Amino acid sequence: MSILVIGANGGVGHYLIEQLKAEGEDFTAGVRKEAQVEQLKEKNINATLIDVEKDDVQSLTEKFKGYNRIVFSVGSGGSTGADKTIIVDLDGAVKAIKASEANKAQQFVMVSTYDSRREAFDSSGDLKPYTIAKHYADEYLKQATIPYTIIHPGGLLDDDGTNKIEVGAFFEGRGTIPREDVASVLKEVVTTDDYLNTEFQIVSGEKDIPQALTDFKNK
Ligand SMILES: NC(=O)c1ccc[n+]([C@@H]2O[C@H](COP(=O)([O-])OP(=O)(O)OC[C@H]3O[C@@H](n4cnc5c(N)ncnc54)[C@H](OP(=O)(O)O)[C@@H]3O)[C@@H](O)[C@H]2O)c1
Repeated sequence: MSILVIGANGGVGHYLIEQLKAEGEDFTAGVRKEAQVEQLKEKNINATLIDVEKDDVQSLTEKFKGYNRIVFSVGSGGSTGADKTIIVDLDGAVKAIKASEANKAQQFVMVSTYDSRREAFDSSGDLKPYTIAKHYADEYLKQATIPYTIIHPGGLLDDDGTNKIEVGAFFEGRGTIPREDVASVLKEVVTTDDYLNTEFQIVSGEKDIPQALTDFKNK
């Protein structure tokens, strides 16, 4: 199983690659800057340049060759405008999905927003363009020819992980979750076939991560 993590320099992504390394998984970190590639290589982590804005589908298809699982933990971030939301969070995601389809990937794991359903558009305020971008990226993925796993985390925190979460289809309320715990969930789902063609929300909760995921799967 060979995993490519795109957005590996991010708040969630950097925890994920540390965890994959600790587990001895076969993976590569996709980052945007040559200096980051060098820093990761110094830590004995395979790294490659991937920029879903600059790379076209053909270039991404070449770069994704040999990876059977792709994790998309990319985000344009809150400090850029709606143009980057469309370019990165929507078009960048769709290009990455197309490239994964071209390579017949076995799994595409999307870090989505907490609620990317159409009914969330009107309640998302300033985040409406982002919510719309995430909605259509998720929809594109669900209709693609490759297995998907879509994670919908609550508000992301920089707190240490607790390893305790709640998993659900779509909760009534809202919640938060440390980025480290989101990474732990990603690590669980990208190292098994147990969560293919599924999507779920995650927030901090009472159950250990593997147990919470297993209980959700067996519901
Ligand atoms: N904020 C929240 O409460 C919240 C809640 C639910 C879901 N999310 C989503 O969760 C995901 C991960 O969050 P996070 O906290 O890890 O975000 P983050 O720290 O902003 O990381 C995002 C990563 O995406 C990379 N990136 C940006 N543009 C790119 C491009 N064109 N090509 C390739 N990579 C690119 C960034 O690269 P650099 O490091 O080089 O800048 C960064 O490493 C995001 O998709 C976010 O939208 C956020």
